[in-house]
Amino acid sequence: MKVLVTGAGGQLASELQVSLPPGVQLTVLGRDRLDIAHAAQVQQVIAGLMPAVVINAAAYTAVDKAESEQAQAFAVNAEGAGHLARACALHGARLVHVSTDFVFSGEACHPYLPTDAAGPVSVYGASKLAGEQRIQEALGGRAVVIRTAWVYSRVGHNFVKTMLRLMAERDSLGVVSDQVGTPTWAHGLAQAIWRVVERPAVEGILHWTDAGVASWYDFAVAIQEEAQALGLLPARCAAINPIRTVDYPTPARRPAWSVLDKTTTWQQLECTGMHWREALRQMLNDLETHGEQL
Ligand SMILES: NC(=O)c1ccc[n+]([C@@H]2O[C@H](COP(=O)([O-])OP(=O)(O)OC[C@H]3O[C@@H](n4cnc5c(N)ncnc54)[C@H](OP(=O)(O)O)[C@@H]3O)[C@@H](O)[C@H]2O)c1
Repeated sequence: MKVLVTGAGGQLASELQVSLPPGVQLTVLGRDRLDIAHAAQVQQVIAGLMPAVVINAAAYTAVDKAESEQAQAFAVNAEGAGHLARACALHGARLVHVSTDFVFSGEACHPYLPTDAAGPVSVYGASKLAGEQRIQEALGGRAVVIRTAWVYSRVGHNFVKTMLRLMAERDSLGVVSDQVGTPTWAHGLAQAIWRVVERPAVEGILHWTDAGVASWYDFAVAIQEEAQALGLLPARCAAINPIRTVDYPTPARRPAWSVLDKTTTWQQLECTGMHWREALRQMLNDLETHGEQL
């Protein structure tokens, strides 16, 4: 089966390559060869390759910068998703698109269901929701939209690598304890996406993160403990202090609660996600083995 992945070099696109199942003929293109914000190029590439499945791992992901670069964020996350969806409709390809917990306001007190009302509180979240809507307009429910959250991997920039660097450099650091969600290893997300590809009947909105719940503070403490156990950090390093969101102002607002309900996804994909702490342990092992730059 021919599969095209967009966003080469990103966290998810890299893990999709690592976890490639047998029988897939994969093409992974970066922005230099496939700029999803460029409608004509999207049509041309998909018409040329004629993939059975397109996985959109490309996105404008700079959440804070998006507040001052609204046009750029929407060009990629909204219009880009729409260009891909229309090209898939025209050439009979299945679209598997990745979206975010940031489509929700974060005011709920239960894990968000795929059917819950969206209400983004940031430009990034609004641009990703607009992307879901463009896909719905072009393909109806026939595409798969997978919402995920708090993604990290061995490659790219992410919270885990930033924490490891800061914990090695500083005596103490404050980490927000009143935003709660679920860390997600891009490797597990990639494996879930391949299960979607293998199941042509799956469609609509899915939620995928690792299992469990944590605040950013809990996550930082776990990163330190697991990294110390592996010798990636010394036994004595930065003290981690819980702080409030109001004490760490950022240009973009973030949902205070962004736990996603995965029940229906786990049923459809016939698997459950790993607990986030076990996934973190495996990723740090991977980092230790490969000696990736922080
Ligand atoms: N990271 C998270 O915490 C998180 C959380 C929830 C959902 N998600 C979603 O998960 C998906 C994968 O995220 P990720 O963490 O893998 O992101 P990432 O590491 O930032 O990778 C995104 C990739 O998309 C590329 N890209 C940007 N604009 C493009 C364009 N116009 N055309 C083609 N490629 C373009 C980027 O290239 P450049 O490097 O050249 O910009 C980058 O390689 C995205 O849909 C994201 O919204 C991520």
